[in-house]
Amino acid sequence: MDLGLREKRAIITGATQGIGRKILEALIAEGCTVATCSRSPESVEAIIEQCSTRKAEVIGAACDVKDQEEYEAWIEDMVKQMDGVDIFIPNVSAGGGMDSEKNWWKSFEVDMLGTVRGCEAVIPHMKESGGGAITLISSSAAVETFAVPQAYNAMKAAVITYGKQLSQFVGVDNIRVNMVSPGPIEFPGGSWDMLKDTMPKWYAKIQRDHPTGRLGKPEEVAKAVVFLSSPAASWINGANLMIDGGFTKRVQF
Ligand SMILES: NC(=O)c1ccc[n+]([C@@H]2O[C@H](COP(=O)([O-])OP(=O)(O)OC[C@H]3O[C@@H](n4cnc5c(N)ncnc54)[C@H](OP(=O)(O)O)[C@@H]3O)[C@@H](O)[C@H]2O)c1
Repeated sequence: MDLGLREKRAIITGATQGIGRKILEALIAEGCTVATCSRSPESVEAIIEQCSTRKAEVIGAACDVKDQEEYEAWIEDMVKQMDGVDIFIPNVSAGGGMDSEKNWWKSFEVDMLGTVRGCEAVIPHMKESGGGAITLISSSAAVETFAVPQAYNAMKAAVITYGKQLSQFVGVDNIRVNMVSPGPIEFPGGSWDMLKDTMPKWYAKIQRDHPTGRLGKPEEVAKAVVFLSSPAASWINGANLMIDGGFTKRVQF
């Protein structure tokens, strides 16, 4: 199947590791130009060097999504360098934790406002070029109780509600908005890699809660995100796709 992604221009935040990196690699393999950021200039340089190909280029610069001015300027710069944007994937998260009110603010600024500010910055450019696709990254922790009462779960739920609402608002401009909700995803240097060592009993329970007995891999999320973001998914709009190997247990009517 041709996804129709050749020569599309994509912006994905935080693609130097994990799910974001696999999305970037898959977009590059499909012939997209991809712009990304992280807080570390060295990591951004490395990904530009490692993932650019003769046919598809990675561009980027260091940027902290939590800093509004820096984030909005970074998006404008990426759009300018690519002469437009067709796909936007706000992938950065502040992560979990329930230790303080500070976490709630950080989670709101990074997960929620990082998504909202990014969408507001790219939408005028997408309108100008006749359309686009936005894929928001939520989590299975948004749709079923998970771990502890924490900002992460609540903000990820808000991301789904925001995305659904946005899909109704910008559909007229030929912009689709979808969400994905991955279950626990493991990769070297990621949070589950760490939890395997620090909380082995909980990690083992999470493994057992998967019908396959294992956690997911970043590339298993990336493939679905790339499809949803592509013209091949032209009639999928306002959906929230669970990508969890059957980890969540409710029936999805
Ligand atoms: N892993 C899972 O089990 C899982 C499950 C469900 C949903 N998700 C969601 O999937 C997305 C990716 O998670 P992940 O676990 O694959 O990756 P991750 O380990 O959280 O890394 C994400 C990337 O974001 C960058 N980053 C972090 N904070 C940033 C900031 N303030 N500004 C700019 N860049 C920043 C990191 O680079 P620097 O540190 O260099 O800045 C890194 O490149 C998140 O939205 C997460 O909530 C993950």
